[in-house]
Amino acid sequence: MLKGRFLGTLAQTRYVLRNRAFRATGICCGSVVVPQRGNHSSAGKTDVSSNQYGQLYSSTGSAELGRPLDTFLRRHIGPSPNDTSGMLETMGYNDLQEFVAAVVPSKILQLKPLGIGAPQKGFTEQEMLKHLRHLANKNQYQVKNLIGKGYYGTILPPVIQRNVLECPEWYTSYTPYQPEISQGRLESLLNFQTIISDLTGLPIANASLLDEGTAAGEAMLLSFNNSRKKKLKYIIDKRLHEQTKSVLKTRAQPFGIELVETDLYDSETVLPLLEDDQVCGCMVQYPATDGSIIAQEALQEVSEAIHANKGLLTMNTDLMALTLMKPPAEFNADIALGSSQRFGVPMGFGGPHAAFFAVTDKLSRKIPGRIVGVSKDRLGKRALRLALQTREQHIKRDKATSNICTAQALLANIAANYAVYHGPQGLKDIAKRIYAMTTILANSINNSSKHSVLCANWFDTLTVKLGDGLIADQFLQRALEQYNMNLFKVDDNTVSLSLDETVTEEDLSKLIKLFNNDASPDGALPSKLPEFPVELSREGEILLQEAFNKHHSETAMLRYLHRLQSRDLSLANSMIPLGSCTMKLNSTVEMMPISWPEFGNLHPFQPSEQVKGFHELAENLEKDLASITGFDAVSLQPNSGAQGEYTGLRVIRTYLNGIGQTHRNICLIPDSAHGTNPASAAMSGLKVVPVKCLENGSLDLEDLKLKARKNKDALAAIMITYPSTYGLYEPGVREAIDTVHAHGGQVYLDGANMNAQLGLTSPGFLGADVCHLNLHKTFAIPHGGGGPGVGAIGVRSHLKDYLPGHAIAPPTNATSSKAIDAVSSAAYGNALVLPISYAFIKMMGNEGLPFASIMAMLNANYMMTRLKKYYKILFVNEKSDLKHCAHEFIVDLREYKEHHVEAIDVAKRLQDYGFHAPTLAFPVPGTLMIEPTESENLEELDRFVDAMISIKGEIDAFVAGKPEGQVLKNAPHSLEDLISSKDWDTRGYSRELAAYPLPYLNYNKFWPVVTRLDDTYGDLNLICSCPTVEEVANSQD
Ligand SMILES: Cc1ncc(COP(=O)(O)O)c(C=O)c1O
Repeated sequence: MLKGRFLGTLAQTRYVLRNRAFRATGICCGSVVVPQRGNHSSAGKTDVSSNQYGQLYSSTGSAELGRPLDTFLRRHIGPSPNDTSGMLETMGYNDLQEFVAAVVPSKILQLKPLGIGAPQKGFTEQEMLKHLRHLANKNQYQVKNLIGKGYYGTILPPVIQRNVLECPEWYTSYTPYQPEISQGRLESLLNFQTIISDLTGLPIANASLLDEGTAAGEAMLLSFNNSRKKKLKYIIDKRLHEQTKSVLKTRAQPFGIELVETDLYDSETVLPLLEDDQVCGCMVQYPATDGSIIAQEALQEVSEAIHANKGLLTMNTDLMALTLMKPPAEFNADIALGSSQRFGVPMGFGGPHAAFFAVTDKLSRKIPGRIVGVSKDRLGKRALRLALQTREQHIKRDKATSNICTAQALLANIAANYAVYHGPQGLKDIAKRIYAMTTILANSINNSSKHSVLCANWFDTLTVKLGDGLIADQFLQRALEQYNMNLFKVDDNTVSLSLDETVTEEDLSKLIKLFNNDASPDGALPSKLPEFPVELSREGEILLQEAFNKHHSETAMLRYLHRLQSRDLSLANSMIPLGSCTMKLNSTVEMMPISWPEFGNLHPFQPSEQVKGFHELAENLEKDLASITGFDAVSLQPNSGAQGEYTGLRVIRTYLNGIGQTHRNICLIPDSAHGTNPASAAMSGLKVVPVKCLENGSLDLEDLKLKARKNKDALAAIMITYPSTYGLYEPGVREAIDTVHAHGGQVYLDGANMNAQLGLTSPGFLGADVCHLNLHKTFAIPHGGGGPGVGAIGVRSHLKDYLPGHAIAPPTNATSSKAIDAVSSAAYGNALVLPISYAFIKMMGNEGLPFASIMAMLNANYMMTRLKKYYKILFVNEKSDLKHCAHEFIVDLREYKEHHVEAIDVAKRLQDYGFHAPTLAFPVPGTLMIEPTESENLEELDRFVDAMISIKGEIDAFVAGKPEGQVLKNAPHSLEDLISSKDWDTRGYSRELAAYPLPYLNYNKFWPVVTRLDDTYGDLNLICSCPTVEEVANSQD
């Protein structure tokens, strides 16, 4: 009934509009448009006319017979030139250039041609692959990397490679904030948490952190906060990985935490240290970076001493080793953390890999990051969701204890599925083999060579003192030249090496020869494998939960993965119009290199002459991003947007200290800022001073001037998002920047909205000093269901020397002694996903890239134009100064609150229409923020708008008290609800209206697998891991 009424008008409107537009411009149908206008560009300016778009979009061109046909821009951008003309006309414009001039304030419109190192029109898809292959071939990826130190060879099972890593249903989905359409990856992340809890013995684990170093930083800060910020000493064992120490140093400094590095194995030294009542915690690596395993008595003593002093014990550990070793919980560890990389995730030159983090029950409300929890839906059915998310736990503006937002969900899912596929026995077999090989090698070194293994016990790593006066450099050279192996240099006479799942019997023989002066091993290798020492072994079984004991054949695994992915909505289903998230195309060509061994097999500490292809790619990308941002240098190290913020602020702070302005510690942040902004400022030791926004959404410049003046002696920085988090090109941005500069502060620009700036303006042109870019938004890295990300930062020349370095293998652009310590474990952070952004930029080219932004704005303004007849649009209207949005806009639903219709009802109802909701309640509660991106075509935009208009009819029905309005409150409707619920006679609406409110759904229906989640129940009954088979059986008794 409702259905018919809404649809008739909507579909008609759409087709009338479009046909009218075609007639008006006289453009015929078909994919290639005949250019209608002359070239509008003035010399030296980027041409943003419709004519130029038509030419770039066209795969052929009369003057370019030789040009290949597989051009990229027309694959990346949704609307064709035909569609564009119609959309422009809907908004009253004739040409894209005119539209750009109307939308982007003239003061900030620069249109400076970009300096991207690629053909003007960009590489075609095949040219891009060829170029990437060319770079890839410069990497010596076939060297056997036994460097270890937190990064190990692993075998990604092909069924997981093809069906998770390379599968758009997994990699294009968003963080599971809408649980009803995310049950598959929530289940997989719950498996991840279960593995972590099971292997560490600690009950609460999160669904990943960024890397081991930053996880260690989180543990240190948790310990510090646990002491109510009163205890300022943190003890670390000297055998932590060097990169972890470096990140700890970075994180400790803003809080004035003193890191005390000591020998935790030596009770005489360490116990008195732990008695100091200034100590908030201590950290041990288990097994240590040198391969040794701390004696259990020593660890027990440390544990007792730190707890007697009310501090926390953190154990940095290794999942593979833990399948055999005693779990951290046996030593009363409060926190266990590490990297899950060796569970099937390629080394990838350092990342992305999912770090894990587990805590005791008493720390459950303090754990950083996202936690998947078990709850129930409207029908009482078990369902999963992000637990405690209403608080987003740790990001509490300036009271934040962490700034983590995007994490490593995709990699956590790979690691989880690696465990599902191998099962407990398979994992133990892998671990036992690694141990056995390591032991055979250790025995051979100790028994028959001049060298000696320095550790008394080990799992996979040996540190070897070279005998016979051998020099480590020469030894490593011989390992490389004769055996094609990379080992690690510890000092001039000491080397270390780590064995892994990929090491073969032949590799082992080579290693024995290497340490035995090239002599072959005496006789065959022992047939009986040495067993892991009983005194170090864990007792009992691991991973008894059902998921890890069922899917060991490839058919079973394939079906399990498929079952999970089909429960989730991703870009493979429909647009995900999340404001501030830029869910654009992640093209197949961009994604292909990440599964090439030429990039995947690289160890982050591999000698630089072996990774020339990667360095060339990184340097090119840095240059391209510098051109796009208008800055002088770029760091690719931060591995999320929030880490970019943190890095940028640390760079600013260190620069200010360097010029004698140590007293500057205030950071101005507008009320509308994303939560990570104040959180990052707080973590950088800055005091947050809020700046008001006006009713029209712009920055309150008067308040800003007042605050800047008032704090002029201590002003360190301002953080501004531009276009603002409201999606507006607010007019006062330059004045704001000038004001802060005039008072001695630096300007940090949050580049989450860079998708409205490409080639049109830039943070450098606006006058900012630093900016982070979310490469996982604007630059096409997929969101992966909650990570990986890259939060590259660009800086002006005066800050260049301060970009982060690295303790072992610094980035090629961080050579200055002023460089801050590392912010990530690896020099290039999430290096393996950088080719994605690289390919995106190079294929769009100098001329094409600005159209990514222009078409993103066109799509947003087109949708807004259609929707504003039905909904209030926040801040943008005919009467205000702002007549256009930038690349996103906000639908205001607050007027319905008094009628008991909430924004969340609309969000949930959209699922019945097959869509992921727009961003809910950010930046303004009671609203939805829509960002379509340039990659959505007109048909999809119209489909979404039609759904929203149809929902408006349902809102009206609800407000008028009509029974069919209840469809909003019961949304979303699962198939089970439709088939099994017995209350349809009382619902006041039909099953058909619930599930098929618009005709397109008859062909293209996505079913939420559960109904609306009960948030409160899940938080009150916090369960964050799967039950074991035994527990399930008991609960059924
Ligand atoms: C405006 C803004 N700034 C910063 C961030 C943080 O980025 P990330 O999630 O990569 O840490 C976001 C993330 O959504 C954002 O929208």
